[in-house]
Amino acid sequence: MRLFIDTGSVAEVEEIAAWGVLAGATTNPSLLAKEQGDPGDIVRRICDLVGGPVSAEVVSEDAAGMIAEGRALRELHEHVTVKVPFNEQGLAATHALTADGIPVNMTLVFSANQAMLAASAGATYVSCFMGRLDDISIDSGDVVAEIVDCFRAGGVTSEIIAASIRHPEHVITAARLGCEIATLPAKVLRQMLAHPLTESGAERFRKDWESRPEFGEWLRELTERSAAASRS
Ligand code: E4P
Repeated sequence: MRLFIDTGSVAEVEEIAAWGVLAGATTNPSLLAKEQGDPGDIVRRICDLVGGPVSAEVVSEDAAGMIAEGRALRELHEHVTVKVPFNEQGLAATHALTADGIPVNMTLVFSANQAMLAASAGATYVSCFMGRLDDISIDSGDVVAEIVDCFRAGGVTSEIIAASIRHPEHVITAARLGCEIATLPAKVLRQMLAHPLTESGAERFRKDWESRPEFGEWLRELTERSAAASRS
């Protein structure tokens, strides 16, 4: 499963992109509204940093407006994927945009029926919101599993994005169920790093190595020789 970052913050993308784990990003109007600066510049900066698909969302409520905004957003950067909200107008816009070769991420999908409509309209990605389903006591794992089953059974090629991820357990559920992508807030990506045994293990390695100072000297010299050889 590929990992996207779900944010409007360039600083967060800079931080996490440096780990080498990001395949793309998603923004939405709420996330961008928290940021200072021109939204177009932010989207372009995120596109350059992740070097993969970056969703930027339309806000019009009618299909014609969504199509016009989608075409304009796509012109911001070659990595822009147009994010379109799920409803009748959004389906029509998705059909038109994808017919023009513009990738669409259909968002705000909460059921397998909605997901099948989104895929039938041509959506490249279908985003199922796990956290918001759990918030209303609908088991997000059950809904995602249904979507995966329906897509696999029907040979649907749209990719499933597990979205509205609230904790690392959502990420594991999405991966086990076969989602192609999960889009995660920076907070959850940071939480995925942590394990007490990793921290105590690293501390133990460090202390054992420091108990042999001559080994430290040996590794420093080895590293310097290697760096000098690569410079010459
Ligand atoms: C997905 O693309 C959305 O931006 C996002 O995951 C929404 O999540 P939220 O429920 O945390 O707002």
